[in-house]
Amino acid sequence: MIRLGVNVDHVATVRQARREPFPDPVAAAAVCEMNGADGITIHLREDRRHINDRDVRLMSETVKTHLNLEMATWDEIVDIACEVKPYQCTLVPERREEVTTEGGLDVAGSADKVQAVAGRLRDSGIFVSLFIDPVPEQIEASAKVGAQAVELHTGIYCNARGTAREQALADLILGSQIAAKNGLAVIAGHGLDYHNIGPVAAIPELEEVNIGFAIIARAIFTGIGPAVREMRELLDKFEKKV
Ligand code: PXP
Repeated sequence: MIRLGVNVDHVATVRQARREPFPDPVAAAAVCEMNGADGITIHLREDRRHINDRDVRLMSETVKTHLNLEMATWDEIVDIACEVKPYQCTLVPERREEVTTEGGLDVAGSADKVQAVAGRLRDSGIFVSLFIDPVPEQIEASAKVGAQAVELHTGIYCNARGTAREQALADLILGSQIAAKNGLAVIAGHGLDYHNIGPVAAIPELEEVNIGFAIIARAIFTGIGPAVREMRELLDKFEKKV
């Protein structure tokens, strides 16, 4: 069964719009879990624009499934991760001016830094995943620096249409095969929604997806429970067992 990780950053985005204590992403995470989420993902950004340190600390205690902390390789954030010890950390590139994560981590071009951070996290008992573009060079570099998983960036696939989308899907399929051959668990994420999830869920090597915006956006109209359950149903419908 493909694990569904729900990213609750955007519950915190709404909270921060008014600097109120609600809606609380900690409560949202619990509701996601009650409705079938296999994991909760949060991104602690340098500017704390949505998730903050309190959220990370509380969720490390309250999340009963797997807490996946997305983070850049900055020392301050790595220190927090090593102290809080979430089940999993996903290293992502981060630029202050971006609206959301753009492009995967350049593991091949910054192997020493990524290896050092991955090593610190692993020494703290944390499962390490790297968010990368589905490019063979980046996947092989991820295995070399000691990652246990790669999260393949699905953004190009999600934004493309027609033959460009078919090519992007082919890149994800090949990337998943290369990752699995290199002993890496295969995760996918970014831009996935109720309409484009099917072909990705059908990738045989896929073990997990991380989905945020589409689920939280739908939850405004349906509530979190139905939004999570509908995505769970789609994953089950399209999954192809190896
Ligand atoms: N995976 C990673 C590494 C991300 O940075 C994000 C966005 O925070 C997601 C998954 C979720 O993307 P989306 O919100 O588009 O579903």
